[in-house]
Amino acid sequence: MHGTVFILLKRYVQTQYDHSTWVRLVEAAGLTSGDFDHKEVYPDEHMYALVGKAAQMTGVPANELHEKFGEYLVPDLMYMYQKLIQPNWKTLDMIEHTENTMHKKVRSEHAKNSPPVLHVVRHSPDKLEITYVSQRRMGALAVGIVRGLATYFDEADRIVVEPETSENGERVLIRVQRLPAGLPRVGSM
Ligand code: HEM
Repeated sequence: MHGTVFILLKRYVQTQYDHSTWVRLVEAAGLTSGDFDHKEVYPDEHMYALVGKAAQMTGVPANELHEKFGEYLVPDLMYMYQKLIQPNWKTLDMIEHTENTMHKKVRSEHAKNSPPVLHVVRHSPDKLEITYVSQRRMGALAVGIVRGLATYFDEADRIVVEPETSENGERVLIRVQRLPAGLPRVGSM
């Protein structure tokens, strides 16, 4: 996994908890170092170990941590790849174009980069379906990223995100809908 994701995980733990929590986490995960380089790619197992131990230490379930971390990642990811983002895009457009812009660029930057494949079907301007496909089984992170995008585009009160299958599978179906402005977010889609 991309070094940037590790760097942001470290910052997330340091800001949500504190630096000593990060040090204990690195130790508990059996890693020799808690420093990462944004140009390097690190084993996925390090990420699983860090998030798994963080879940044990905080009592927050791993899926929930992944979602929260996904939300946290968004502003930095957007900043890093801002050149690829069209100024008129909002949450659903961003999701629709991730595969052919951001994730495509990420794949081209390093042979070992392998962001998930996102099959997106845009049913209407306000509704789409994502099929997340990755052996990493990080569907919860994908759900968090969608929530983070909604916040980034100031649409959090209108965007409903619903995983339709277990977030832990290699294929996760996620429905995303934008409600008309002014409607309360009650009930399901
Ligand atoms: C600004 C837009 C985005 C950028 C710049 C971006 C960038 C990245 C990068 C750099 C990685 C690490 C890849 C690797 O280590 O091989 C990654 C992984 C990931 N991305 Fe994105 N991404 C974006 C949007 C999205 C969206 C919209 C979703 C989901 C709906 C998503 C889901 C994921 C997930 C779940 C991973 C973790 C790896 C995996 O599950 O295989 N990303 N992305």
